[in-house]
Amino acid sequence: MPAQVTPQKMIQGDDLVDKNTTTQLLLLRRLEEKVAIITGGARGIGEAIVRVFVKHGAKAVIADIADAAGIALANSLAPSAVYVRCDVSSEEDVEMLINRTISLYGKLDILVNNAGVLGNQSKRKSIIDFDAGEFDRVMQVNVRGVALGMKHAAKVMMPRRSGCIISMASVAGCMGGLGPHAYTASKHAIIGLTKNTACELGQYGIRVNCISPFGVATSMLINAWRSSDQVDHEECTDLEAEEMEEFVRGLANLKGVTLKAKDVAEAALYMASEESRYISGHNLVVDGGFTSFKNCVAL
Ligand SMILES: NC(=O)c1ccc[n+]([C@@H]2O[C@H](COP(=O)([O-])OP(=O)(O)OC[C@H]3O[C@@H](n4cnc5c(N)ncnc54)[C@H](O)[C@@H]3O)[C@@H](O)[C@H]2O)c1
Repeated sequence: MPAQVTPQKMIQGDDLVDKNTTTQLLLLRRLEEKVAIITGGARGIGEAIVRVFVKHGAKAVIADIADAAGIALANSLAPSAVYVRCDVSSEEDVEMLINRTISLYGKLDILVNNAGVLGNQSKRKSIIDFDAGEFDRVMQVNVRGVALGMKHAAKVMMPRRSGCIISMASVAGCMGGLGPHAYTASKHAIIGLTKNTACELGQYGIRVNCISPFGVATSMLINAWRSSDQVDHEECTDLEAEEMEEFVRGLANLKGVTLKAKDVAEAALYMASEESRYISGHNLVVDGGFTSFKNCVAL
């Protein structure tokens, strides 16, 4: 144990402990005294980020429109987490979310713009069936929501000359052919917005990055494969999750490991913590190499 670190400020990395050894792996709590907002934090990847951040000492503000799930998660992590209802596509809601965080904790260190929707995958796949209303709906949550989060977080971070903004992009933001047109456009936009905002906010000591995961078997992905119409907010069964993981493993480049929401949360932890203090304007791709190449020569 490092000399100046008290036991209370350390956590046990239970899921990193090698069960075959007697070594207990101790990790520093990397977000001690940090205040973080996680949008779309009630379930899926957002929930995993909330859990990892709290485990590392952060106060987490769960911002979502899924009230029951958000409240249940906040209650289970109290007093380290609170739930605030916020539709990220509404500027009024986002402003209220930031104000509420400041009134509760006095500051905002980290914003994770994670909330997102896939849009209708089951129909209107072709560009000739382009549905402008559907496109607007996806862009409003995925892009407008991220931009609004950046705007109102920057307002409170700039005077303190520090802060960290992380947005959830996707491998569908790195290449084509991985999702519906609107979703793909929205995720490309997040990567561009991240770079531009990082350019502007660097002078205030604020880091701005995004993360691009490969497929994770969450409600979003599973609902997309159901034959029914758009059902972004329906819960999924364990069997459906297992089948989706099997499907994703089949597509993946990196074999022998299944991408979990927790893996994306660990990437967010890195981006939020001091370990990445000189990283800004970056898109951290969590895809086991999927977007790096097409293996044409059977390497
Ligand atoms: N699951 C994947 O394979 C995958 C891959 C790459 C990127 N992503 C991205 O990761 C993020 C999280 O996805 P997920 O798979 O956990 O999805 P999910 O559907 O399981 O969770 C999304 C959360 O966002 C919330 N949300 C939706 N619209 C909202 C709004 N207007 N305001 C506030 N909250 C809202 C939902 O209620 C839900 O809690 C999304 O941005 C998604 O595009 C997911």
